[in-house]
Amino acid sequence: MATLNNAPRDSFSSRIGVIAAAAGSAVGLGNIWRFPYVAGENGGGAFLLIYLGFILAIGFPVMLAELTIGRRAQLNALGSFKKLAPGKPWFLVGLMGIVAAFLILAFYSTIAGWTLEYLIQAIGNQFAGKSPNQLKESFEIFQSGTFRPLLWQMIFMFLTGYIVYSGVKNGIEKYTKILMPVLFLLILVMTVRSVTLEGASGGLNFLFKPDFSKITWPVVLDALGQAAFSLSIGMGALITYGSYIQKNNPLPNIALQVTAADTLIAILAGVMIFPAVFAFNIDPAEGFGLVFIVLPNIFEQMAGGYFFSILFFVLLAIAALTSTVSVLEVVVAYFSEELKMTRNKATIIASVAISFVGVFATLSFGPLSDDIIFGRTIFGWFDYLSANVFLPVGALAIVVFVGWFMGKRNVKNEITNEGSLKVLFFPVFIWIVRLIAPVAIAVVFLYGLGVLKL
Ligand code: PFF
Repeated sequence: MATLNNAPRDSFSSRIGVIAAAAGSAVGLGNIWRFPYVAGENGGGAFLLIYLGFILAIGFPVMLAELTIGRRAQLNALGSFKKLAPGKPWFLVGLMGIVAAFLILAFYSTIAGWTLEYLIQAIGNQFAGKSPNQLKESFEIFQSGTFRPLLWQMIFMFLTGYIVYSGVKNGIEKYTKILMPVLFLLILVMTVRSVTLEGASGGLNFLFKPDFSKITWPVVLDALGQAAFSLSIGMGALITYGSYIQKNNPLPNIALQVTAADTLIAILAGVMIFPAVFAFNIDPAEGFGLVFIVLPNIFEQMAGGYFFSILFFVLLAIAALTSTVSVLEVVVAYFSEELKMTRNKATIIASVAISFVGVFATLSFGPLSDDIIFGRTIFGWFDYLSANVFLPVGALAIVVFVGWFMGKRNVKNEITNEGSLKVLFFPVFIWIVRLIAPVAIAVVFLYGLGVLKL
């Protein structure tokens, strides 16, 4: 299929490269930082069950739908809609994705910056000999500062920009293949340490014993938002990545493997965090800082904790980086293909603009922490709006588009590689994207926001 530009489009070199890049996008702070804090605020077990239901019934189909759009059109998120539905307002879905990318990267880079600070603290052996209270206090002092959090955020944005600038294939694709499995193994080791702590069983009960009295519509919306955020769906990151996937790669398998890896890592992160939360008497509803307060406590109690803490924060920063790259890529692909900028110029402009917005997110924990707007700080709003509003609305639009407007034959041809691949679940998929997912997302969204009430 022709592209708008004359230059040949970049693409991933192999199927394993696609999976590494897409899993790299999905697996990140959303699994290890966001999942435990949101689950912790929402009562644990019942939240986990609803989350898993959404991953299966909505997350996986939306992921496949996004990859299908991108690979069919071979363009950025906005250009894909323009090409597949010329003259129609569907491109607005792509535009919304670009705005969501700005919001997400602005606050995500704050937390990503924290991982770098914690890496330096780990290298300096600064967790050793500290009590849970002292660790909490030192986190709060760092977080409410100005200079260091901003410095780390800018360094992280620079790293993200640098990788996108140099192209994805030879950097991210190469390293994620090796590093993601190492992160997985390390979480396993820490999980074992965490569940063998004295008093750990409270944490496992919290995570696995559902208590449905905690479930309200806003909690259900949180679960949907977290599922979308964690899978990187609803804003065109996977449309963009899908556009770089070669025509002979099987989209259903890729979507399935990425969904499975992402979900496994989120659950493992929960099993790593909550036993320690209970063992050290930390409040599971601690909020944004939860993992940064809990993890150092686990390292402090581990044989080889010094070594593991360094390795862990290196890997966490890398997991974050492979996600931020995919978010920035959405904006850069749009700037370069639609606004006809060179890729380099697009990267610089996007990174600088997002960093500027990001300053407000980072300062929400320090100088701007008293600026509460309708019960949330600026950071809180970026986090809430992107996960609970932009991504669900984007996901809804994407499934409706694929289900009703892209043409069933087009969709089937793309998913089955023009008929050469047997996809037994296609009839189920098509009814999920036509009916089940749109209705479920709309209901959860409207009730979750309180627009509708029972
Ligand atoms: N899925 C990433 C994570 O769990 O950390 C975050 C993310 C990346 C969200 C890309 C959205 C996105 F488009």
